[in-house]
Amino acid sequence: MAIADFSLTGKVAIVTGASRGIGEAIARGLAENGATVVLASRKQADLDTVARAITDAGGAALPVACHTGKPEDIAQLFDRVLAEYGRVDVLVNNAATNPYFGPMIDATESVFDKTFEVNVKGYFMMAQRAARIMVDQGGGSIINVASIGGISPLLMQGVYSMTKAAVISMTKAFASELGGAGVRCNAICPGLTNTKFAKVLIDTPEIHDMFVGQVPLGRHAEPREMVGAAVYLASDASSYTTGSVIVCDGGYLA
Ligand SMILES: NC(=O)c1ccc[n+]([C@@H]2O[C@H](COP(=O)([O-])OP(=O)(O)OC[C@H]3O[C@@H](n4cnc5c(N)ncnc54)[C@H](OP(=O)(O)O)[C@@H]3O)[C@@H](O)[C@H]2O)c1
Repeated sequence: MAIADFSLTGKVAIVTGASRGIGEAIARGLAENGATVVLASRKQADLDTVARAITDAGGAALPVACHTGKPEDIAQLFDRVLAEYGRVDVLVNNAATNPYFGPMIDATESVFDKTFEVNVKGYFMMAQRAARIMVDQGGGSIINVASIGGISPLLMQGVYSMTKAAVISMTKAFASELGGAGVRCNAICPGLTNTKFAKVLIDTPEIHDMFVGQVPLGRHAEPREMVGAAVYLASDASSYTTGSVIVCDGGYLA
């Protein structure tokens, strides 16, 4: 037996926001380590492209369009996965939105509602549905992609940061309640990462340089740098880890 078992062979993993960025990288990483990966985000064509790349590399993927802010879409996603595979071993809650960059005092009600709908309610509904299945199965791993903003609020991203703090709290609450059933729940907090989501921050030199100036490793991250934590948390290598928050931020919060 290996000292640490990172294999995901035989496991079925759902990854939301898998059509690009961090979610795509995590989905590819889980597939590379043997998982069958269900790819979920809103645009079917983008998911089909990622699924093709995974199957071309010898992996297994099922692309299913799903708006994670819509409970009816979430219900359809799980019905499809259960019909296809009959189980869910890993859920990576990753699809999130950040429609507003500005002071808290000017954030509108619709910004607040949209951000909480996808980032908090969506994560919660996904985790709740997955957890019920995992409890019946006798085990599973839920991984919530939060943010360093959930630990220390990011400038001009206060509402978004509030949702990520809620995700961290949700992670610990699920971990406490589900540990007895063998279901683990952990969070990953990326720092500034080179994706469409962070494009404005990365492409605006004043913002980028100010941020990276506070990063001990002296640069932003690439999406693949979040994969190791996800594979660890999805696999039996992390069998004694639950309720934890893994920060992948180049040392920003150090
Ligand atoms: N990039 C960073 O610097 C950074 C830092 C800290 C944390 N994070 C977190 O990392 C996660 C991934 O972000 P990213 O940077 O990889 O973003 P990204 O490149 O913009 O990708 C976002 C993904 O989420 C999907 N998505 C967006 N809204 C959705 C919805 N309502 N329902 C279903 N899917 C939806 C998108 O596909 P569709 O548009 O097709 O739906 C896409 O696949 C997020 O939770 C984010 O908060 C990112």
